[in-house]
Amino acid sequence: MPAKFFPTNGHLLICQNSQCLGRGSGLLYRALWNYLERESLAYYKAGGTVRLTESGCLGACSYGPAMCVYRRTAQGLEESWYGAADFPLACAIAQAVQQGGALPSERRYGPEP
Ligand code: FES
Repeated sequence: MPAKFFPTNGHLLICQNSQCLGRGSGLLYRALWNYLERESLAYYKAGGTVRLTESGCLGACSYGPAMCVYRRTAQGLEESWYGAADFPLACAIAQAVQQGGALPSERRYGPEP
């Protein structure tokens, strides 16, 4: 039996390497999962389209917690990278992915828009 396919609007990654863990990325990851579940944004919930994965170093170690998002748009693949990510910013990113809206610009460090 083939695996079930879940439609996805975008994929969020939160660094779980040592320097970001020291700045709270573990708690941020768990809190964001709770938010995705509660708000039915998680890809496996009815109507949910957001994926979230732990990642290794994202190259912004001095500015963690670092996170990034990839999503497909009409213009192609869009990526956005964030430093000093906190819960409100992570929730705003997840909502933008779910709704297909503009990604937040605050604390974004790449790529240049
Ligand atoms: S340790 Fe998180 S970006 Fe490098």
